[in-house]
Amino acid sequence: MVERRRRVIGRSKRYKSNAAPREQRLPIDRYSERVRLSNVDPALEACWQVVCRSEEVTHQPRAFALLGRHWVLWRLGDGTVAAFLDQCPHRLAPLSLGTCDDAGTLRCSYHGWQFDGTGTCVDIPALGDAAHLPSRARLTAPHDVTESHGLVFMAIRPSRTPLPHVTVADDPSFQRGDLPVTTTTGAAGLFADNFLDVAHFPFVHAATFGAGEEHEVPTYTLERDGYTFSATYEHLFANREDPGVEAGLRPLVQRRALTYRYTAPFHMELEINYLDAGGTNVIGFFIAPADGDHVRIYSALWRNDLGGSPEAMAEAVAFEVAVLDEDLVIQNAYRDRSLPLDPTIEVHTKADRTTVELRRILSDLVSGR
Ligand code: FES
Ligand SMILES: [Fe+2]
Repeated sequence: MVERRRRVIGRSKRYKSNAAPREQRLPIDRYSERVRLSNVDPALEACWQVVCRSEEVTHQPRAFALLGRHWVLWRLGDGTVAAFLDQCPHRLAPLSLGTCDDAGTLRCSYHGWQFDGTGTCVDIPALGDAAHLPSRARLTAPHDVTESHGLVFMAIRPSRTPLPHVTVADDPSFQRGDLPVTTTTGAAGLFADNFLDVAHFPFVHAATFGAGEEHEVPTYTLERDGYTFSATYEHLFANREDPGVEAGLRPLVQRRALTYRYTAPFHMELEINYLDAGGTNVIGFFIAPADGDHVRIYSALWRNDLGGSPEAMAEAVAFEVAVLDEDLVIQNAYRDRSLPLDPTIEVHTKADRTTVELRRILSDLVSGR
């Protein structure tokens, strides 16, 4: 027995491995989901999340998926938004199949139980008028719901992150245009990463705006404040859309300043300032993690350089849709629908400062720091 064991040891020592050198092998993913952020991470419940557009909430119930669960939303008689888990406490039927009266009292479509805007059961038809209603017959509510920027935001638990605020949204010199809501496959963290990434323009967006873009990412400054950051850089670009170039008023190559503002977990804004030609364009990007594999993207433009023209804004929106379509090709193709948070999983460079900061902030959020 002893002899046999020796022989085996001896043979293994002489064994010459044909395995690829360590650096060529596929890395073993030693990390559990704790170091990757999925769309349904429990830490995301303690954040403001966008649920839908304000105009999508009507006086009749409608279901929206968020963080892997379905929520029913409707508008009460006074115009405020009611939001609850889309599940009747009786036999767990989806409440979104029900109907509301003028005051906003919702009647479940299965056995007719009625719930008011606070989620309290006010009628169980099968028990008659004088019935004592069970105290557990109430709806499950998120901690907070609010409307901002024409969107409905919800925090399932008390939010540790602030509500996002687009700085120019209150400025009357800006006109707004909304992109159609995009429901698609992917990870909210990876979509946030993609929006904040500045090195992919010449490659992913070659057919829209990327062809003339510099490959090299200029040095930029980044300032973190809690669960938010802003990053700014200035660069030269060929402004082919400026009529002042043709008129000989300005050179073709002009200065442009880009400012990214991020609010955890998935709210972003890019402000582009044309320093020579004038004008400011802002793109807002709000991502709802619907379930483990899907997101909804709510995006809007604010511009002060279109002279109030609805046609020009429609054109600008169509252009942004084409840009987003280019990003979707990559985002939809990711097989692992989560954002790595452990810095050793990916390779980072100094051109990736915004997206490294994104990971740091989300990592802090997940670990409760
Ligand atoms: S399941 Fe809603 S009333 Fe019975
Ligand atoms: Fe992009």
